[in-house]
Amino acid sequence: MTERNLDDKTILVTGGAGFIGSNFIRFLLRRHQAVRVINLDKLTYAGNLDNLRDVEGDSRYEFVQGDIRDRELVRALFPRVQGVVHFAAETHVDRSIIDAGEFVLTDVYGSFILFEALKGAPHVEFFIHISTDEVYGSCDEGFFRENDPVAPSSPYAASKAGADRLAHAYHVTYGLPLVILRPSNNFGPYQYPEKFIPLIVTNALEGKTLPLYGQGTNVRDWLYVEDSCRAIELAARRGAAGEAYNVGAGNELPNIEVAGRICDLLGKGRDLIKLVPDRLGHDRRYAVDWGKMRELGWAPETKFDEALKATVRWYEANAEWWRAIKDRSRDFKAFYEQNYKDRQ
Ligand code: NAD
Ligand code: DAU
Repeated sequence: MTERNLDDKTILVTGGAGFIGSNFIRFLLRRHQAVRVINLDKLTYAGNLDNLRDVEGDSRYEFVQGDIRDRELVRALFPRVQGVVHFAAETHVDRSIIDAGEFVLTDVYGSFILFEALKGAPHVEFFIHISTDEVYGSCDEGFFRENDPVAPSSPYAASKAGADRLAHAYHVTYGLPLVILRPSNNFGPYQYPEKFIPLIVTNALEGKTLPLYGQGTNVRDWLYVEDSCRAIELAARRGAAGEAYNVGAGNELPNIEVAGRICDLLGKGRDLIKLVPDRLGHDRRYAVDWGKMRELGWAPETKFDEALKATVRWYEANAEWWRAIKDRSRDFKAFYEQNYKDRQ
């Protein structure tokens, strides 16, 4: 197994102002004293420089506002870096159901622009492509392995599957050092409050109802973002070119149980939970086998209940962060109203 040293490298992180990207940049700078990071982020509604206030003065960190679809900008950045971790994407399934256009353009075409730049940059040693467990579609029983076929259900998942297979094709065709990661549902600090766990936590803190799609019985495998960051960093050091790696947590729970535990942690009654009409094409369960990541040297370390508690406490302590998004962001409100208007 080849071991790459990240300490002497400049790493291009795309989408670093989002949820996992900002946690990953903080993790990387903490773990590697001599690493340098260039964060390329368009600052869409989901990008937020408040997520990185504590690192913005770090001389190892540079922010570039821009679009991954901007071919010239991307081409200009590649000669400066030796590694890439690509997070930038449209990420919310409900938004992709309302309007899929930006998902195709960013997740597929934007990834294509980055792969093309990689083609012209033989000095780049690794490119970690962040895919998702959703590319496999719903898993009725057992666990998906990396060689199982992709069968995405939502326009978001289909766009991610397109980029995932394009990454594979660019490795097979041009021998590029692309490594694909397929993580399960992440949660933790700085997650945009349209996603399930932060939506439930912040709605409960506001005394609002907690909307559960369908019967609340859909199952997700909850991965704490710190464990996710460790997996990504390990893939950057040891991941083999052309390989895909599942990243799961073994924390499979029905949504209604997660919402219930959040109510308990906040001392709120579970009667805040409200069943609302289901998401279109709602995948029943996601479940992946992460044996390949274990062979690389990774396993999730965080216990779900402890991580959920830490997350709930973080949202309690950082109300100004999420209130700024929920109260003042026209985008959040417009989406929220459109998504929930027929459900409430
Ligand atoms: P997020 O929505 O919080 O952040 C996405 C970031 O990408 C934002 O900062 C946004 O401004 C930026 N961005 C969007 N379009 C861009 C463009 N055209 N050019 C440059 N920047 C752009 O997303 P997240 O939840 O942190 O997810 C990060 C990645 O991980 C995504 O690729 C997502 O598909 C994948 N993923 C997420 C999860 C999860 O549970 N959150 C699980 C598996 C995989
Ligand atoms: O599995 C990885 C994926 O996880 C990532 O690739 C996506 O970027 C990320 O958004 C997430 O997708 P999900 O659709 O699983 O996450 P979301 O937080 O939207 O929903 C989690 C579950 O909660 C899902 O079963 C739908 C349900 N849900 C969600 C919302 C927003 C509700 O019941 N009510 C809600 O209001």
